[in-house]
Amino acid sequence: MTAGPGSGAATDPPAITVGGLTVRLDGALIVDRVHLDVAEGEWVTVIGPNGAGKSTALRAVAGLLPFRGTVRLHGRPVEALHRRERARAVAVVVQNPVVPPAMSVYDYVLLGRTPYIAPLGRESAADLAAVEEELAALDLTPFAHRRLDTLSGGERQRVFLARALAQGARILLLDEPTSALDIGHQQEVLELVDRLRAERGLTVLATMHDLSTAGEYADRMVLMAGGRVVAAGVPADVLTEANLAEHYRVRVRVIPGDRGPLVVAVRA
Ligand SMILES: Nc1ncnc2c1ncn2[C@@H]1O[C@H](COP(=O)(O)OP(=O)(O)OP(=O)(O)O)[C@@H](O)[C@H]1O
Ligand SMILES: [Mg+2]
Repeated sequence: MTAGPGSGAATDPPAITVGGLTVRLDGALIVDRVHLDVAEGEWVTVIGPNGAGKSTALRAVAGLLPFRGTVRLHGRPVEALHRRERARAVAVVVQNPVVPPAMSVYDYVLLGRTPYIAPLGRESAADLAAVEEELAALDLTPFAHRRLDTLSGGERQRVFLARALAQGARILLLDEPTSALDIGHQQEVLELVDRLRAERGLTVLATMHDLSTAGEYADRMVLMAGGRVVAAGVPADVLTEANLAEHYRVRVRVIPGDRGPLVVAVRA
């Protein structure tokens, strides 16, 4: 691995380095000079009101959008990675994936193995084993042969995550991965991601709207508003009544909890 500028041979670059990230869509400034580093093995969650630019920033980090500034994955500029190389480095669950409706759950999760299958080649036994492992991990084995368009929203959301995990990338970008899940599956999925983070050394950059849950799982949080980072740090420093009142325009109470701050909206 090539060391980044200024880093010693013994120090690996952060899993994700974002500097001055700026995205314009149809002339509108959507992401404005965002800086963000995510260390290897770290979990960082981006929060912020609707329209803050979270999904756009995440898509840029994944190399799915043109941007200005720098995005490096394990020290390498994302735009320099070829498609297969990029897919082995970073797996993304976007907020509203477009799915081929008639495809089976099994075949969809198998698409996650594309970067390992030679063009015009067939999937190997290892690819099939990876698919089965992720289906089991996400309680999806009974759904393997169902068509995607027959699943509930929460079942489909677990399929998207299974596909991303099957990709075997060390960086996971998750855009509201639990928004459609019931409270049980929400906890189960986040616990699974957290466990895999330890077991497989994954790095997680996520967005989430449930602030208490977001704070529970993140090592650090980034609050975005109007395309900019307006607060960053450990959950207790970001999830403050003052920050949330200012940027969400809501009165909240923040109660210290065992696993991080609990955020409750209160009536004015
Ligand atoms: N092609 C476009 N032209 C102009 N504005 C756009 C375009 N695409 C997206 N936007 C705007 O960019 C802003 C940021 O969108 P983005 O999806 O990144 O927000 P978000 O923080 O993920 O919000 P949410 O919490 O609702 O998912 C929104 O106001 C959206 O309307
Ligand atoms: Mg979004």
